[in-house]
Amino acid sequence: MGRAKTVFRCQSCAYAAPKWLGRCPDCGSWNTFVEESGARSPARMTPHAAGTVPLSEISLGEQRRISTDIDELDRVLGGGVVPGSVVLVGGDPGVGKSTLILQALAGVLRKSGGRGLYVSAEESATQLKLRATRLGLDSGAILVLSETSLEVVFAEIERIRPEIVVVDSIQTIFTEELLSAPGTVGQVRECSARLMTLAKRQNIPTFIIGHVTKEGAIAGPKVLEHIVDTVLYFEGERSHSFRVLRAVKNRFGSTNEIGVFEMTDSGLLEIRNPSEVFLRERTADASGSLATATVEGTRPLIVEIQALVSPTTFGMPRRTSIGVDNQRVNLLIAVLEKIGGLHLGLTDVYVNVAGGLRIVEPASDLPIVLSIASSLRELVLPSDLFVFGEVGLSGEIRAVSQAEARLKEGEKMGFKRAIIPEKNLKRIKPDTDLLITGVKDIHEAMESALG
Ligand code: TYD
Ligand code: MG
Repeated sequence: MGRAKTVFRCQSCAYAAPKWLGRCPDCGSWNTFVEESGARSPARMTPHAAGTVPLSEISLGEQRRISTDIDELDRVLGGGVVPGSVVLVGGDPGVGKSTLILQALAGVLRKSGGRGLYVSAEESATQLKLRATRLGLDSGAILVLSETSLEVVFAEIERIRPEIVVVDSIQTIFTEELLSAPGTVGQVRECSARLMTLAKRQNIPTFIIGHVTKEGAIAGPKVLEHIVDTVLYFEGERSHSFRVLRAVKNRFGSTNEIGVFEMTDSGLLEIRNPSEVFLRERTADASGSLATATVEGTRPLIVEIQALVSPTTFGMPRRTSIGVDNQRVNLLIAVLEKIGGLHLGLTDVYVNVAGGLRIVEPASDLPIVLSIASSLRELVLPSDLFVFGEVGLSGEIRAVSQAEARLKEGEKMGFKRAIIPEKNLKRIKPDTDLLITGVKDIHEAMESALG
């Protein structure tokens, strides 16, 4: 009743059909049809309809930012939330998304004195109340709406005019315009696009929470990354209390900042000195353990890399890594075998970044290589040593960015020695008491670290 006509569109060739089809008659691909509202497709909903303007006449203005009163979150956002922007917060179920965003909402309202709307489509109002009590955020400024219909949510937003909106979660909300169930690609996308339009039109910053799910019937945040302004991922191992917030898309800031938190009994605690936390549980003399300085955005961090090499007992050798890219580790193992002369063909190799952090930059190559060599030879690496450097395919050590910041952080954390790329050492004038060794290939590095 009153429902706009829906169409199903092939996601690979845009062929439109009145009903869902398994195989596209146009391009022949399978399982690519997604329901869309016939009234207007998300593509036509882009909220910039102000007319054509010469580039030179567009004023930059002062980009206003709203602080969430959580420094770690503000930094990842690029200095706070931009009014009218839509921020998607993705992450595994249970990682702490609702907790983080409830704390952020309370922070914004604490600073502004206004009212905010928390749409709890997933949990009951009582559950939300329990969480808020636990966090000590029992504020009257937070208005709770336990509702799954987007139309009802919109009506409430019109009525109460909140200054900020949270939708938890996008997978449980649905629009009555589409026939499909909440959580399907069509629903998730249509709801997000409409929230985006509303946020822009009324200048209400909006947080959307989305669960990361494996490929399947339930659509994860991946399908809406291109719709929203900012995409943050909240990551962490269930077994650890550390959580890392990472920007993977940001129309209003850099994407390589991270925020570090610890999940405690009373909510998420900001970690202002992550190096200290990541090194907290370090055991001094174990083979295969080595500290490295990694840079996330503008921020150097000292973390521990661990490797375990053990004889393969059955069949194919296993290579498993947590916190670093598995392909990268395979490549480094190949370099160690071919250039370094290590025999790893009949051994399992496990690499882990302690504390549940994920390192995405190649500066961790050299510490990975050295910790594997250390475990294989059962030689303990000095606990006051930290190492960084990229390893090339011929075993050469390449320079990395921000060497000075890394050295400084290591020194601050009490390290005495560093092994770094020779090319970095030549370029910098480190004013430190660190004993720095520059190396040009993995032979020199192994010699220097393991003797
Ligand atoms: P939650 O924010 O509900 O996760 P998500 O929204 O990502 O699914 O939090 C999940 C876990 O965090 C839950 O298992 C309980 C734990 N937790 C704490 O340890 N301390 C707290 O103060 C809160 C609120 C939750
Ligand atoms: Mg939740």
